[in-house]
Amino acid sequence: MKKIAIINGPNLNLLGKREPGVYGNEGFESFLSKLKVDHPDVMLEYFQSNIEGEIVDFIQQAGFSCDGIVLNPAAYTHTSVAIGDAIAAIPAPVIEVHISNVHAREEFRKISHVSAKAKGTICGLGLEGYSLAINYLKMKN
Ligand code: DQA
Repeated sequence: MKKIAIINGPNLNLLGKREPGVYGNEGFESFLSKLKVDHPDVMLEYFQSNIEGEIVDFIQQAGFSCDGIVLNPAAYTHTSVAIGDAIAAIPAPVIEVHISNVHAREEFRKISHVSAKAKGTICGLGLEGYSLAINYLKMKN
């Protein structure tokens, strides 16, 4: 069975409570339960951290042990050369996901240190983006 890691960056532990007008009303833990029901044919591993170095450590570990990574680096998308470098360093394909349409928001959100290193990016489709990314990874490798 394929193993896919989902990694969420800072403040995504507050999904459901945080800016619901932008990110919706559902917490990630409840969404994850649904994802597992919708994708019984893969092993889903979940990691969330508010700390950049912990995300780098997890990418390094999952990048050599999983078949793919679904990564929402949250605010680190726009600042973290280290997360971009970690993606470039691993063999597993990474799909970058953003819940909101970052291109329709503030200018600083249009810059990503991740997009050029990722296999592809999904943004603006809400939590559904995670499921679409998993479908791609199931299909492609
Ligand atoms: C986000 C978009 C980022 O700009 C923001 O900092 C986040 C969440 C998204 O999923 O839409 O925390 O990655």
